[in-house]
Amino acid sequence: MSSTMRAAVAAVVLACTAPIVLAQGSTEKGIEQYRQALKEGNPAELWEARGEDLWKRKRGPKNVSLEQCDLGQGPGVVRGAYAHLPRYFADTDKVQDAESRLVTCMVTLQGFKEEDAKKNPFSAPGRHSDMEALTSYVAAESKGMKLNAPLAHPKEREAFELGDYLFHRRAGPHDYSCSTCHAESGKRIRLQELPALTDPGEAQKVFTTWPAYRVSQGSVRTMQHRLYDCYWQMRHPQLDFASDTATALMVYMAKFANGGEVHAPALKR
Ligand code: HEC
Repeated sequence: MSSTMRAAVAAVVLACTAPIVLAQGSTEKGIEQYRQALKEGNPAELWEARGEDLWKRKRGPKNVSLEQCDLGQGPGVVRGAYAHLPRYFADTDKVQDAESRLVTCMVTLQGFKEEDAKKNPFSAPGRHSDMEALTSYVAAESKGMKLNAPLAHPKEREAFELGDYLFHRRAGPHDYSCSTCHAESGKRIRLQELPALTDPGEAQKVFTTWPAYRVSQGSVRTMQHRLYDCYWQMRHPQLDFASDTATALMVYMAKFANGGEVHAPALKR
């Protein structure tokens, strides 16, 4: 990070610890200033910095930080954890992705109610999502590492089978499945390219870029949001945040993306 970027990030982190009403206005102003200061930087670094601050800050009814959260590499190990997700966790007896695991840690370590931990998964104008920031921080700690999501535990295999079924199941008013749009190379909707997510070459390039800062949306978006949005594109019922359905689809896609380098959070259209 350059020193200008560091200063901009520090200013925003400070702004974010101020009272909520103040924080939102000044964070947006901070982002605007940051964009001007750094025409070529990725604004996702602001989310990473805010996420690191949230990770280390004592919060929730128990007033503890997330620093002892086990993301799969042992309590407190963030480095490299994202490159090995989703995976099976014995304590919850579930396969979890980064976001559903963060929910678990917010509940078990910090004492949040599950519905509160899941309340604000995606930011909206004027409302930042802690989950997006935390996920950006966690993902960035695996930058440059090869994705290696495991597929050995029976529950991981079960999730893969479910993901395979869901990816190809046609439903809804247009009779769409994920594979309608994402199983062949070279498909497009208007000007948007539709990656073939079951092609290892393409999957390795795109799956590993989430979360990403979406210039068109002025925000970081996570894989949970990407799937939520594609469920909407299919006109299927809304996909629940951090649901087993979302995880199963990620396990399925990760199988094809394994071996690709993590470049998250990336910068996207
Ligand atoms: C009607 C077509 C359509 C269907 C069906 C669809 N998607 Fe998408 N998907 C899109 C479009 C369009 C984009 C790119 C959006 C953009 O760039 O704004 C996209 C992007 C994605 C991406 C990110 C690709 C990248 O370049 O980083 C993933 C991952 C993805 N979809 C997964 C899925 C999954 C999983 C399903 C099924 C649950 C699904 N999609 C169903 C249209 C679709």
